Amino acid sequence: MTKTILITGSNRGIGFEIARQLGSAGHHVILSGRDSAHLNDSVSALGKEKINASGLFMDVSNNSSIQRAAGELNRMDFQIDVLINNAAILLKQDKNLLRDDFELLEKTIRVNSFGALKVIRELLPLINRPGRIINISSEGGSMSDPVGGWSPAYCVSKTLLNAITRQLADQLSGENISVNAVCPGWVKTRMGGKSATRHVEKGAETPVWLAIEAPQNLTGKFFRDKQQIEW
Ligand SMILES: NC(=O)c1ccc[n+]([C@@H]2O[C@H](COP(=O)([O-])OP(=O)(O)OC[C@H]3O[C@@H](n4cnc5c(N)ncnc54)[C@H](OP(=O)(O)O)[C@@H]3O)[C@@H](O)[C@H]2O)c1
Repeated sequence: MTKTILITGSNRGIGFEIARQLGSAGHHVILSGRDSAHLNDSVSALGKEKINASGLFMDVSNNSSIQRAAGELNRMDFQIDVLINNAAILLKQDKNLLRDDFELLEKTIRVNSFGALKVIRELLPLINRPGRIINISSEGGSMSDPVGGWSPAYCVSKTLLNAITRQLADQLSGENISVNAVCPGWVKTRMGGKSATRHVEKGAETPVWLAIEAPQNLTGKFFRDKQQIEW
């Protein structure tokens, strides 16, 4: 069955590749981003591959932008089957939780953790049942792995995103909406850098599997390479 799948922060990187793979499988993908020109280019690029792609302007760090996007989806009469919270930032000055400017931590959490939660809260009435929510997280946010010593604000933001994932999976368990988190691995994107060990195709693989293939009753879990991992 054809699904409608919205991916935040999908004008480039892993989000764009998730959209490309799901669109190539025949699903309607809604790309969303905070840069209209770049978003339009990305939607056109998928259109050239005969993918059914729409664009939606949404800055996940801005409440009114999220509300406007929800209104826009309503006007277009779009219901969503799968919401993928992919948008995130990793700031290069992110080095030390004690000494960095506190605004850096707040900004990182505003986008990476509260951004996802706010998008879910606003778009929930537009999500079909059964429905799926997938939060793109990172093993950097894991509480069971040793601390890696890199980008602490980013890692804390992903720990919070994981906590949000568990709470929402529980809250939505009676509504037939699954909520899971995924680590895509270390992927060659603007965020991951050139030394990363994976290409975007591999990074998109598990989110794509969770969106369309994984059993609907898998919820409240953290995945990497289609396998459950420790939080
Ligand atoms: N790459 C890795 O190695 C790696 C590893 C683990 C987890 N992840 C996670 O995978 C996801 C995708 O990462 P990526 O590597 O593809 O990063 P990326 O290339 O930097 O792409 C990030 C995307 O998020 C968008 N974005 C940032 N802030 C936004 C906002 N306020 N509103 C809307 N969109 C916003 C960016 O849009 P602009 O073009 O407007 O900036 C861009 O489209 C992220 O959640 C990341 O944390 C990545």
